[in-house]
Amino acid sequence: MSDNINPGGTVSLCIMSGKGGVGKTNLSLNLGFSLRDQGHPSLLMDCDLGLANLDVLLGLAPEKNLQDMLAGSAQPHEVVQTIEPGLDILPAASGVPEMVEMDQNQQAALFDKLTTLVSGYEFLILDLGAGISGTVLSLARMAQMRVVLVTPEPTSLTDGYAIIKVLHSRFGVRDFLVVVNQATSQESKETFQRLNTACKTFLGFELVHLGHVRLDRSMTEAVINQKPLARHAPNCSAIKDITELAMRIARYRQENLDALQGRQALKNILLPST
Ligand SMILES: Nc1ncnc2c1ncn2[C@@H]1O[C@H](COP(=O)(O)OP(=O)(O)OP(=O)(O)O)[C@@H](O)[C@H]1O
Ligand SMILES: [Mg+2]
Repeated sequence: MSDNINPGGTVSLCIMSGKGGVGKTNLSLNLGFSLRDQGHPSLLMDCDLGLANLDVLLGLAPEKNLQDMLAGSAQPHEVVQTIEPGLDILPAASGVPEMVEMDQNQQAALFDKLTTLVSGYEFLILDLGAGISGTVLSLARMAQMRVVLVTPEPTSLTDGYAIIKVLHSRFGVRDFLVVVNQATSQESKETFQRLNTACKTFLGFELVHLGHVRLDRSMTEAVINQKPLARHAPNCSAIKDITELAMRIARYRQENLDALQGRQALKNILLPST
């Protein structure tokens, strides 16, 4: 492959959950670092348009954000910031409730801008808000890879099932990767099995178990220090697990380069919503 910057097009990967507070933003951030460290240029996009906080975890105070870009008061290149070479962020403003439910025109404008913005990255990582708002569903539907993040708690599991069910019943989506957070390997297997059994029984398809991330106190320390865990404690157990996840994700991209070649990062781009 001659062009190792963007050999097969950008792959979009969204991190979603039914229940809030399960660890989406921290996973998005540290996956971004892991992918970047493994040689895969990535763009982290804060898609929690009501309660954005990716920038807070990095200790950044961006002057311009996604909402400015959509309003036309900032150009895409003014909004994207480089965190480290090979890892950029597209921050969003917090406390803008109207962005939680973007209308068709706003969505079309966003995808239009993103299409040019994402070239040059191997991964576009979308940190979604919790729940099943219209914006969450649209972005989750359009991403090429969907990670459903759950914890072993029953409430997280039922809410995880709910978001899968809505995406399936509304848009026919059937491909989901499951990551179990704050769990041992055994807890992760059991949790995945429960979720997978529900999907098999009631929705008629199976999920893919991507892996797990262990409960790790360093994560809380990193959040308090506003430093990404991948830099605060690069050898801790959670980062070891996230590195594994990043390797599996990169392998998926490699194996699917042919299918992804020439495709836009958001595969259903500009298709009318059903
Ligand atoms: N593997 C882990 N070990 C220990 N603590 C964790 C782990 N993953 C996440 N946390 C903690 O859980 C809290 C919530 O994480 P985070 O903000 O990433 O969740 P979220 O799903 O993005 O929340 P929201 O739904 O509000 O966007 C953080 O304070 C973080 O420290
Ligand atoms: Mg979050």
